[in-house]
Amino acid sequence: MAAATIFEQIQDYANRADPYPLYRELRKTPVVREADGTYVVSRYRDIVALLHDPRISSRRGNLQGFIETDPPEHDRVRRALNRYYGPPETPDRIDRMRPELLEIVTGLIDRLDGRTEIDIVDDFAYPLPVTAICRLLGVPLEDEPRFHVWADALVEGIGPQAARNEQARRNADNAWADLSRYFGTLIDAHRELPGQDLLSALVTDDRTAEAMSQADLRTNASLLLFAGHETTVNLITNGMLTLLRHPAALERIREEPEFVIPTVEELLRYEPPVHLISRVALDDLDIAGTTVPAGAHIYLVLASGSRDPDHVADPDVFDPTRHDPERFDLHPQEAQHLGFGGSVHYCFGAPLARAETQIALTELARRLENPRLLADPPPYRSNPGLRGPRHLPIRFDRVR
Ligand code: HEM
Repeated sequence: MAAATIFEQIQDYANRADPYPLYRELRKTPVVREADGTYVVSRYRDIVALLHDPRISSRRGNLQGFIETDPPEHDRVRRALNRYYGPPETPDRIDRMRPELLEIVTGLIDRLDGRTEIDIVDDFAYPLPVTAICRLLGVPLEDEPRFHVWADALVEGIGPQAARNEQARRNADNAWADLSRYFGTLIDAHRELPGQDLLSALVTDDRTAEAMSQADLRTNASLLLFAGHETTVNLITNGMLTLLRHPAALERIREEPEFVIPTVEELLRYEPPVHLISRVALDDLDIAGTTVPAGAHIYLVLASGSRDPDHVADPDVFDPTRHDPERFDLHPQEAQHLGFGGSVHYCFGAPLARAETQIALTELARRLENPRLLADPPPYRSNPGLRGPRHLPIRFDRVR
């Protein structure tokens, strides 16, 4: 049997806790062709060039909604959603949500009072984004056990391992159908009795129908619920893990809460939830001297690009101060890290994810006295592309 390629080793669960040395190896060959004809791109500058190249498509067949579409259709839908949500550059709506997010976080931490050992994932990092996205969309939190099962199936349906697992892809298709049916009923209810939420705003505005069909509306609502459900949990958990490994940074957040802002940017670079995304070549493409043929699937290893030494100095050092605007005069959204992707598909939920994680880490730093890890490395989730601990057991002296 042939030795495992570096990309196969990255997918191997044994390397989930620390894939970064493999990314370093991968970058030595900027464009790698795997035996199944897929290509892997791992350097910052090649990834950014591809993200901006109109000759690549997001129609890769493993997700649904506008994340799976190309301009101009993509932009039409995204613009319609932006009317209520606000584009990433002007996160007004999310800024207005901050007091509510703080209230959710405070409630979750209050519930820990009396305990000295918890699982950061189940007790905190999972419930927070789920509660937030339900409130934003107008989805009853009581239904969470149902869509939790669907979201798990959707996660299993994406990434390189799913390409080889037909059952996982079928389960994901069924989960999309279940979610879409669920939103069909919910949308009818919101049309009759609108609230202050995004879904109500969409269904009561005639302009929504110009941008998307009813079926597209159901699918895009499903996409938002899924994306809000499965990503931020990993940023909060990776964040707490990294801060407990770097106690000086945790201490600094406690003393100087604004330090959480560059810390979250550095986490998106250093320990991001989304490690790889995929695209399809629409034409023959020359990438760093290699021709990638039309029709080929391409993996862009975002987490490798963010640690490319040609892009950032000392990439394997966790250093929030590198995001000080006086040290780097770069585009704040995408130039410093690829944690939220880039170009037209740049994460739609970035303002919400940032606000949730900033508030979560500040409050954990402030209120848990003397926190420490009980397992390092912790057990990870299986997906190599959407990466984070399954559990993060910690101990502390008391809740302040
Ligand atoms: C797109 C990461 C949170 C909704 C993306 C992409 C990345 C990403 C890398 C680009 C995908 C691609 O180009 O194929 C993250 C991370 C998050 C997060 C790391 C948390 C820390 C959220 C939240 C929501 C959300 C909370 C929902 C409110 C979306 C949507 C897209 C997207 C709808 C597709 C945008 C488009 O195609 O124009 N995200 N995301 N994300 N994200 Fe997020």
